Amino acid sequence: MANVTVIGAQWGDEGKGKIVDWLASRADAVVRFQGGHNAGHTLVIDGTTYKLSLLPSGIVTGTLSIVGNGVVLDPWALKAEVEKLIGQGVAITPDNFAIADNCPLILPIHRDLDQLRETAAGKGKIGTTGRGIGPAYEDKVGRRAIRVCDLAHLDTLDPQLDRLCAHHDALRAGFNEPPVDRARLIADLKEIAPFVLQFAQPVWKRLRDVRKEGARILFEGAQGVLLDVDHGTYPFVTSSNTVSGTVASGSGVGPGSAGFVLGIVKAYTTRVGSGPFPTELQDEVGQRLGERGHEFGTVTGRQRRCGWFDAVLVRQSCAISGVTGIALTKLDVLDGFDTLKICTGYKLRGEVIDYLPSHAADQAEVEPVYEEMEGWKGSTAGARSWADLPAQAVKYIRRIEELIDCPVASVSTSPERDDTILVRDPFED
Ligand code: IMP
Repeated sequence: MANVTVIGAQWGDEGKGKIVDWLASRADAVVRFQGGHNAGHTLVIDGTTYKLSLLPSGIVTGTLSIVGNGVVLDPWALKAEVEKLIGQGVAITPDNFAIADNCPLILPIHRDLDQLRETAAGKGKIGTTGRGIGPAYEDKVGRRAIRVCDLAHLDTLDPQLDRLCAHHDALRAGFNEPPVDRARLIADLKEIAPFVLQFAQPVWKRLRDVRKEGARILFEGAQGVLLDVDHGTYPFVTSSNTVSGTVASGSGVGPGSAGFVLGIVKAYTTRVGSGPFPTELQDEVGQRLGERGHEFGTVTGRQRRCGWFDAVLVRQSCAISGVTGIALTKLDVLDGFDTLKICTGYKLRGEVIDYLPSHAADQAEVEPVYEEMEGWKGSTAGARSWADLPAQAVKYIRRIEELIDCPVASVSTSPERDDTILVRDPFED
């Protein structure tokens, strides 16, 4: 398999960064295929910290980095991110960075609408990142979006703007907001257009060409399968398809291109934002997981909710996304617990089930069925081989493999790149 696809198999924040960085350093091209600047990760290379939100992880090391058409692109956020990285000495040019010219834009009116809705929803809010992701995807599917290629045709944009503004003006009126300032929107787009257009191209073509040359491609997923708009905990989800199948539609390659699908799985469970979370711990155990795991959002700084490992959810994610192997992360956070619990099924109205049902009310009602395991006394932090792990930690991993019906490809035991037990190398598999 020449290519590797990395996806989160829980609710995002599984620790994709470290693994993606390692894989990106060995890939010929890195492609983002969904989501937008709601994602975020921090890279530390030779003592310098780089923060990425929208740009693919290969950018810092000069690897060809591509934003696919499945992404929603905020051109102003992109410019700020690019300028910051250039200021840190990273080279970003049309030679090593490409944006799909059919990629829809996130406009200021999308951010407005996202935030207006969340504020109005009060307790019922989704807990979005407030970046305009959902409204931008709505306009794409509603055939009203302004896309990257439109930036080269701003003088003939009026019919599209009529449709877009009519829609948004009606929505804004419902929130007592003034109509879209169309003149300002056009002026802002004119100003940003040259910056974006220097990178714009049909990326399906670029990908076809590099594949012909035998390139190894890393498809970099954002968020996690349980935030997928179809398969996640709807409506508490993001607005894109986060599953591995999106690689094809979100970048313009065939469905066989995903290659080795690496599902990133945290050794416990976290979630940020609202929505059902069967194994959530609102006690000192949950607090301990949060503190030891530094569970705060990279984009919004919000505290993440924490809970025991939920094998039902991960088994479901692995099946839905065709996961070849998992990368288990943050095992060291579980060091020192006397007992650990793993959720193996759910109780719903007296019946035990082995999957997460689709209806939101059922998802909120399911009660976890736990299996208890003895914890381990020693430390797993920094382990680089099975022999470095306490026997109970190995048992915990083996039990997870069994329950999720998917093999472990690697185990991560600290934020350091080398503190990893590598079982299968996805690029060599
Ligand atoms: P949105 O993507 O901003 O619309 O947010 C929808 C839901 O997805 C919220 O619960 C967010 O907290 C969650 N979300 C979006 N991006 C991420 C991410 O990168 N990591 C974890 N959760 C995310």
